[in-house]
Amino acid sequence: MEIILKEMEGSLFNNIVVVWMSIALMIFFVNLKIKAPYGRHTKNSWGPMIDNRLGWVLMELPALVICPMLYWLGPNEKEIAGIIIILLWIVHYFNRTLVFPLRIRTRGKKMPLVIMLSAVFFNLINGGICGYYLGWISAYTLDWIYSLPFISGIFIFLFGFFLNIHSDNILIHLRKPGETNYKIPTGGFFKWISCPNLFGEIIEWFGFAILCWALPCLSFFIWTFCNLVPRALAHHKWYHGKFENYPMERKAVFPFLL
Ligand SMILES: NC(=O)c1ccc[n+]([C@@H]2O[C@H](COP(=O)([O-])OP(=O)(O)OC[C@H]3O[C@@H](n4cnc5c(N)ncnc54)[C@H](OP(=O)(O)O)[C@@H]3O)[C@@H](O)[C@H]2O)c1
Repeated sequence: MEIILKEMEGSLFNNIVVVWMSIALMIFFVNLKIKAPYGRHTKNSWGPMIDNRLGWVLMELPALVICPMLYWLGPNEKEIAGIIIILLWIVHYFNRTLVFPLRIRTRGKKMPLVIMLSAVFFNLINGGICGYYLGWISAYTLDWIYSLPFISGIFIFLFGFFLNIHSDNILIHLRKPGETNYKIPTGGFFKWISCPNLFGEIIEWFGFAILCWALPCLSFFIWTFCNLVPRALAHHKWYHGKFENYPMERKAVFPFLL
């Protein structure tokens, strides 16, 4: 009886994740039409505004908290594979929530409150889905950490993570303290693409989907792709409009492709 209930719970959960993934595909087309108005695309016609740095902390905080909390509260055995997965999550979101916002040179900048709230909503659902999967549904054994998906996924994740941080570092240091202007970034993967930080983030969650080998983590990768590919295209177009001498051979987000 308990097994049947668990299977029903699992299939209902999978259906919810499939619906959530389908929404991401719709959002992809919306994002191609409408640029999310934060960072260089920020607009004050989207209602009340909030300080940019505070906005970043508040919108990412639910992800940092909810997924590890659900994992911890869930009845699943705390196996080594699950612990490594949750540690990767925490390291990423510790940087995004508490380190990145403190480092950006964003004096006086604001973002629309509605953008912050929509990111909070996304992080609650996404963190909730991944945390529920890890705490209640997943069944990793010790063998999983020696499997090809786990090992290759970790390498892909770490490559994406370091590319993301390295590229964010280059961007942050383009401005001297107190400056708010934009410059043409160079170095690292900027040789090939305009947005290696976004490319790194896409690779990171692709690696995460591989190492977890699970629908909720695939769903996170799809959401990241659907949010960041249109954003990278918008950034790329913006660079071409802003700088006459912008390198023509540079692609937007995928080296040599797009
Ligand atoms: N997983 C997801 O779905 C998701 C979604 C969104 C963002 N993120 C991650 O969050 C991070 C930030 O994203 P983003 O789109 O805001 O990145 P971004 O536009 O590249 O900006 C990153 C930082 O660098 C500054 N900057 C960017 N280009 C610059 C230039 N040419 N000259 C001077 N300063 C420059 C920006 O300042 P301004 O703010 O003043 O433009 C900002 O502080 C990235 O690592 C991204 O991967 C993830």
